[in-house]
Amino acid sequence: MYGRFAAESPQKRVLSLYRGAPAIVRAHVAVRWATCPFPAVAAQLPASGRILEVGCGHGLLSLFLAVSSSDRSITGIDVDEDKLAAAHAAAAGAGLDASFAAVASGALPEGPWAGIAIVDVLYLLSVDDQAALLRSCAAGLGPGGVLVVKEMALVPRWKARWNTLQETAAVKILGITEGNELTFLPPAHLAAAMAEGGLTVRDRPIHRGYPHPHHLLVGHKPE
Ligand SMILES: C[S@@+](CC[C@H](N)C(=O)[O-])C[C@H]1O[C@@H](n2cnc3c(N)ncnc32)[C@H](O)[C@@H]1O
Repeated sequence: MYGRFAAESPQKRVLSLYRGAPAIVRAHVAVRWATCPFPAVAAQLPASGRILEVGCGHGLLSLFLAVSSSDRSITGIDVDEDKLAAAHAAAAGAGLDASFAAVASGALPEGPWAGIAIVDVLYLLSVDDQAALLRSCAAGLGPGGVLVVKEMALVPRWKARWNTLQETAAVKILGITEGNELTFLPPAHLAAAMAEGGLTVRDRPIHRGYPHPHHLLVGHKPE
């Protein structure tokens, strides 16, 4: 079905989509893939239907979702046009149902969505904006839809300290990531905002084997 890609794993295929990208982008997506549990996030999303990724960056998760199931229609949005250009270039010519668009902070394309993913984005927003975005995402889901959030927890503390150091460098010193603040909230706070949006929420740590305190929250909207 994917011609010469048929025998490749989705992981190999998604990374190969960036082979024409500048070395800095290739290095970024390779490190990102190695250090973020994207497969655990993807496993919570529907295998078909319209899927939105908020804060998609270079498009790594969006494209992984697209190569993993051709029944998904993926839209990735971000506020960073340079990263979106890299996502768009990686998708170009690959025959995937994946598109990317720039949005103003907090704006969402029209739903309903079968699934929405937000991976390591909320901490760049204020406390109020994090809650507002989670509520908007919940409202944008169709019946039975799922909101999947991957953020960093505050424990284990050594992993949280390492993460804060790295993100301070990325946001405030190197300017790799757009954002003004670093607001890491306890997962229970995020779960409460998702529940306020009418979702039934489960959450669990997924940091085993990773140097960062990855935490997964999955919110289901009633049918
Ligand atoms: C740490 S990166 C994560 C990118 C991608 N989700 C990933 O996991 O590789 C954070 C991303 O959030 C984006 N971002 C920051 N504020 C945003 C906002 N208000 N709305 C949408 N995206 C935002 C940044 O431009 C950046 O691409």
